[in-house]
Amino acid sequence: MKVCVFGANGYVGASVYKSLRKIPSINVSGTYLREPSLFDELYKLDINEPESFSSYYKQENPDVVIWSVMDGPNEHMLTDQGLMHLLTFLTPETKLIYISSDFVYSDGKGPYDEEDSLSTLPDDHLFSSYTNAKIKAEHLINNELSNYVILRAGPIYGENQIGKLDDRTDKLSYHLRSDKSIAFRDDLIRTFVHVEDLASVITELVQNDVTGVYNTGQSESKSYYQFMRLMAEQLGYNPNFVEKESEYEKVDQEIPKDTSLITKKITEITKQKFR
Ligand SMILES: NC(=O)c1ccc[n+]([C@@H]2O[C@H](COP(=O)([O-])OP(=O)(O)OC[C@H]3O[C@@H](n4cnc5c(N)ncnc54)[C@H](OP(=O)(O)O)[C@@H]3O)[C@@H](O)[C@H]2O)c1
Repeated sequence: MKVCVFGANGYVGASVYKSLRKIPSINVSGTYLREPSLFDELYKLDINEPESFSSYYKQENPDVVIWSVMDGPNEHMLTDQGLMHLLTFLTPETKLIYISSDFVYSDGKGPYDEEDSLSTLPDDHLFSSYTNAKIKAEHLINNELSNYVILRAGPIYGENQIGKLDDRTDKLSYHLRSDKSIAFRDDLIRTFVHVEDLASVITELVQNDVTGVYNTGQSESKSYYQFMRLMAEQLGYNPNFVEKESEYEKVDQEIPKDTSLITKKITEITKQKFR
């Protein structure tokens, strides 16, 4: 079986790529964009560039494609160009596994299940490029394809297979190492997912016939403040150095408050237990 990981140089993609490489029956290739590449054999590719995308895709002709790319404020280009190219190449036999976000539920009144409607943000909103691009991508995939899995994830955390931590935990341990306090919001409720759990569920989905849309992550949601206190404990630091951040910041109105996810469906259809 041939599998392509778009974004194999990234936080999630690197773990997915490494997990798949351990499976003898899978022939995996992956892409990166910016130097340096984490793995020698990755293919340098701008997914938005039609010619290079086309030559890479025709050369690989995969059975499964994993979409693990992200580009913050330019996310709309990934959907309007990169994903559009990909859709023209996918055959009904090729399975697409697309990583989406809890921000598709951006009205922020969770917990949400997979059937809840998605809400776009106004163009001038801080998160509109990312959120609206993810929603558009989901609609495109849903309308054009049948052989696909969309995995919606909240904040992804933990050490990945190349020893990289997510930025928030990295910042947390940097502060606590030097006995400095650090503050996180207690009013923003999320469903956190460990990077290795996400990589492992993707590895399972590569090898089975499951399709559809699934929320991923822990069964219980937490605020950033609650979650980071737990992380501090797990990392062996004093959790009392984690404080509550002021809720009265300027950006306060901008951030969806509760994007927590009901994740029962994925645990019923896969073997994955989310830590
Ligand atoms: N991290 C989270 O908390 C979180 C939460 C919810 C959903 N997600 C989703 O999870 C997926 C993976 O995210 P991540 O955290 O692993 O992000 P990441 O570490 O930023 O990795 C994204 C990768 O995308 C690649 N990329 C960006 N623009 C590209 C382009 N034009 N052509 C080709 N490659 C391009 C980058 O390649 P280079 O490194 O080579 O530049 C990068 O490695 C994304 O779909 C994201 O939306 C992430």
